Amino acid sequence: MADIKTKFFGKELTSPVVAASCGLTNSLDNIKKMAAHGVGAVVLKSLFEEEIYHELNQELALRGNLDHSTDEYMDYFDYIIKEENLKNYTKLISDAKKAVDLPIVASINCVSSAEWVSFTKKIESAGADALELNLFVIPSNAERTSALNEQFYFETIQKVIEKVDIPVSIKISHYFSNLAKMVGDLSKTGVSDITLFNRFYMPDVDIDKEEIVGAQVLSSNNEYVVPLRWVALMNGKVDCNLAGTTGIHDVATMVKFLLAGANAVQVCSAIYKNGIDYIEILNKGLQSWMDEKGYQSINDFRGKLTIPGSENAQAFERVQFMKHYGEY
Ligand SMILES: Cc1cc2nc3c(=O)[nH]c(=O)nc-3n(C[C@H](O)[C@H](O)[C@H](O)COP(=O)(O)O)c2cc1C
Repeated sequence: MADIKTKFFGKELTSPVVAASCGLTNSLDNIKKMAAHGVGAVVLKSLFEEEIYHELNQELALRGNLDHSTDEYMDYFDYIIKEENLKNYTKLISDAKKAVDLPIVASINCVSSAEWVSFTKKIESAGADALELNLFVIPSNAERTSALNEQFYFETIQKVIEKVDIPVSIKISHYFSNLAKMVGDLSKTGVSDITLFNRFYMPDVDIDKEEIVGAQVLSSNNEYVVPLRWVALMNGKVDCNLAGTTGIHDVATMVKFLLAGANAVQVCSAIYKNGIDYIEILNKGLQSWMDEKGYQSINDFRGKLTIPGSENAQAFERVQFMKHYGEY
């Protein structure tokens, strides 16, 4: 039987299938089931900066005070809200570490490099094997330069890496003016890996009610093409490991990412849709494909379909575009 071990989050994983951060990974029972079905690692549901503020606002609203600049706000923030959230989060980490023999990765979804950075030490002390930062910036401010947006990434990563000794992994979006350069530069900051790409909440419009409505919470199985392209383009040009996420719903798509050069795939919607035991189906499917092809380990084929140099990548994309649309 083919060996599907891989390396990610600075650890050896028994499978490239990582349970991506989501509501399912917020429960010890689910984490145990995921372990039983052969998941490579679990990324816990993110601790959101906004959650903390939201909780704080509710408390302060009850007390008739919503001014964030007051000493009361800061005291409350520092000593009550943060502690409560963190206590629950660190408990899940330590319970999970006791319950399963699996890398448990904490996650922080952040939009600033401020207060929350001090949380990371406690997350490490609770036993997390790695920390994933979901750097969640939608560059929608027309007055803000791309340099300023990008600075947030480097500052945040640097602050966190200075704070903790565990591997720091990042999950990013593709909203950059020069994505290839940015991914390359981020890979040199000391992060252990980069996961491409975050799937943002995508609003839609109800034309009858003339209202903005929430779009699909779960991804579709054709959404993988953008991250797949960028894993193929960036593999071999980064100083860290890469993973794909978004739209990875079946064995074939997982294999595509590995061929493109990913070390792992982060899966969420497919587990919501098919259940936790689907992880085992993905693992077995990968092993069968490898057996059929005569591959003994993932390294035998990982990155086989990477696009080599930057110049070649541009030429490749242009030729494919001309062929594809010229023949249509
Ligand atoms: C219900 C739900 C909750 C999620 N919560 C988080 C989260 O807390 N932190 C995070 O980094 N990503 C979160 N995600 C994003 C997933 O980790 C994943 O990156 C995204 O769904 C794309 O993968 P998929 O196509 O397999 O769903 C969430 C996704 C879903 C559907």
